[in-house]
Amino acid sequence: MEILEKYITAINEGLAAIPYPLEPDNLYAPVRYELSLGGKRIRPVLMLMACEMFGTDYHRAMAPALGLEMFHNFTLLHDDVMDNADVRRGKPTVHKVWNENTAVLSGDAMQILAYVQMTEAPDFCRKEVLDIFSKTALEICEGQQYDMEFEDRSDVTEKEYLNMIRLKTAVLLGGALKIGAVIAEAHPFDAARLYQFGVNIGLAFQLKDDYLDVYGDSAVFGKNIGGDILNNKKTYMLINALRLSEGKDREELLSWISKKEYDPREKVRCVTDIYTRVGIKELCENKMQEYYEKGIGLLKEINVEPQYIEPLLQLSALLIEREN
Ligand code: IPE
Ligand code: IPE
Ligand code: MG
Ligand code: MG
Ligand code: MG
Repeated sequence: MEILEKYITAINEGLAAIPYPLEPDNLYAPVRYELSLGGKRIRPVLMLMACEMFGTDYHRAMAPALGLEMFHNFTLLHDDVMDNADVRRGKPTVHKVWNENTAVLSGDAMQILAYVQMTEAPDFCRKEVLDIFSKTALEICEGQQYDMEFEDRSDVTEKEYLNMIRLKTAVLLGGALKIGAVIAEAHPFDAARLYQFGVNIGLAFQLKDDYLDVYGDSAVFGKNIGGDILNNKKTYMLINALRLSEGKDREELLSWISKKEYDPREKVRCVTDIYTRVGIKELCENKMQEYYEKGIGLLKEINVEPQYIEPLLQLSALLIEREN
């Protein structure tokens, strides 16, 4: 992670220096808590790298980069309530340490703090940056709504799933890169290519997140394994297991999805075994690879000297190989 160090240090220092009041403590302590638990910081890193790629000092994008990370952390507070998730980044989630109302309101405060940082974008591009950000933020709400609605459906198609993860996850990576490019006054053609690169890497990123939710190591991943299975999340894996399983496997899978009372550990174990028997692991790995390569292809089409895309190439490789 050497290539990331200078950015991550700057981002963590920047986040710690964002001003907000101390009281009420139950509003702001969760903000501090969430921001202090680390996280990969990939979205702000993408923005800073995009800025540098076009020959501009990355400090010019620092405030919007911090805003984007603040925004991402806000979505996590609400997402963990929606997904009933008890652990994140190896620590109890905000709604567990405090309560759900606190997670909602502290999340709201973080979204406002995110906008405050975003507004610090350079004068010449402030409106454009805020427009990209607002469009992206609304798309994330759309994706999250689909994600929740899909829990109660068993006929979700792969196409619907891909659109849902594009909205809830991929556009934020794309948006981060595009904002970085706009701040660096890149040609609109290059900014658009970079956005598409981000969306493709983002699709691979969410596919990997879903994969790790089944096959990861909770101590490294920082989240409880099997949460998606317990919530009947219509992931790429479940959708394809429903499509490809036959006979007893299929019967068992359908029964686990409809069961109201069960031992959670048993459900996770049995569904995982079905996935593995049906060959979902490989299918998912191939799909990730497909989006990763498509993204890299788009990145290489951008009009800069090849050495300037090197950091983004390296970061993409890290993201696809990640275990957390
Ligand atoms: C978690 O994002 C939410 C998803 C879109 C999968 P990250 O995996 O980037 O979470 P942190 O910030 O590194 O904890
Ligand atoms: C999260 O997707 C997307 C957003 C937070 C917008 P997940 O629900 O899969 O993310 P994790 O696994 O909880 O981090
Ligand atoms: Mg979640
Ligand atoms: Mg979720
Ligand atoms: Mg997940």
